[in-house]
Amino acid sequence: MSAIVNLSDFEDVARTTLAPAAYAYYAGGAADEITLGENRSAWSQWRLRPRVLVDVAAITTTTTLLGTPVAMPFGIAPTALHGLAHAEGEVAMARGASDAGLVYTMSSLATRPVEDLVEAGIEGPRWFQVYDHRDRSITADMVARAEAAGCRAIVLTVDLPVFGRREREIRSGFAQPDASGYGNFARYAAAGEVALVTAGLHSSQFTWAELDWLAGLSSLPLVVKGVHTGEDAALACEHGVAGVWVSNHGGRQLDRVQAGADVLEEVVAAVGGRAEVYVDGGVRRGTDVLVALALGARAVFAGRPWLYALASNGSDGVGHAAGIIRAELENAMALLGTPTIGDVTRAHVTRS
Ligand SMILES: Cc1cc2nc3c(=O)[nH]c(=O)nc-3n(C[C@H](O)[C@H](O)[C@H](O)COP(=O)(O)O)c2cc1C
Repeated sequence: MSAIVNLSDFEDVARTTLAPAAYAYYAGGAADEITLGENRSAWSQWRLRPRVLVDVAAITTTTTLLGTPVAMPFGIAPTALHGLAHAEGEVAMARGASDAGLVYTMSSLATRPVEDLVEAGIEGPRWFQVYDHRDRSITADMVARAEAAGCRAIVLTVDLPVFGRREREIRSGFAQPDASGYGNFARYAAAGEVALVTAGLHSSQFTWAELDWLAGLSSLPLVVKGVHTGEDAALACEHGVAGVWVSNHGGRQLDRVQAGADVLEEVVAAVGGRAEVYVDGGVRRGTDVLVALALGARAVFAGRPWLYALASNGSDGVGHAAGIIRAELENAMALLGTPTIGDVTRAHVTRS
């Protein structure tokens, strides 16, 4: 682990240790992977404008997300099937996040069911991500189970009315498990049914009209994930959401959409303070976090780096990744002259 000094190093390890089809599933994006590449490079287009002669002896990375205190504005985005990375799957990921004081967003397409997090005694803040399902009672039951399992927000992912075409998956022969491989769905699968959970149950018909129904299913705040435009961010706010999450699903859905870093300011302007704004896609460095905060995000999330950290060494790998990004963030905050998260402003960045 001592040889791993930044988040990208985890991928180098995972590339050699994961089964080739699992690596193809985790790493790949849609079509030509134009968006996948730009998710990373778009952060690099921004330059920092440090202020000097600021007292930075004490740096504090803490903040709150939807009122919950967190150790830093960097969370774990929902990613499916942690069981491909580690035998303990989501339990190990959640434990690593909890120990580090980070928000863990559990995917509904997890290997383990959400109830396992309670059974494992994991207390850190967790959110639960849902899709809409053809059988609405499944969506409703999933939200109720998440609330009962101590999740503090429902994250509705809206950029997957159908699956993107991910060619690395096709070439590697990656096969989705049947329902029994998705811990949250196993109980809904009809006996003997081997239809793919996602293809078989997923709805492509959810629209803004149904959003209010979903929001009313629980007392939890609703976050809409997968927003790409100011127009949709404004609509989400009109429907009273608590959070707008700028995301292109890690470049896995529609190729050639703009990178998160490039859409963020437009969304922040459209939201106008009515909801918290998050962003993901290619966030790998403490300096990426500072750019996102300066452009108006409340927090950033990442997907793949956490999967690779989990694959490298379970919850300890996740803890090591959290330690790295925290050290990078503290260092960058000191050098930028921003000792607290609230000190970071639009004036701290400029387009290169
Ligand atoms: C292997 C993989 C599985 C994913 N599964 C889900 C999912 O189940 N639900 C969801 O909302 N997003 C999912 N995502 C998207 C992530 O939440 C996130 O938007 C994306 O990974 C961010 O980009 P990054 O990987 O560059 O950090 C997945 C991403 C990856 C890489």
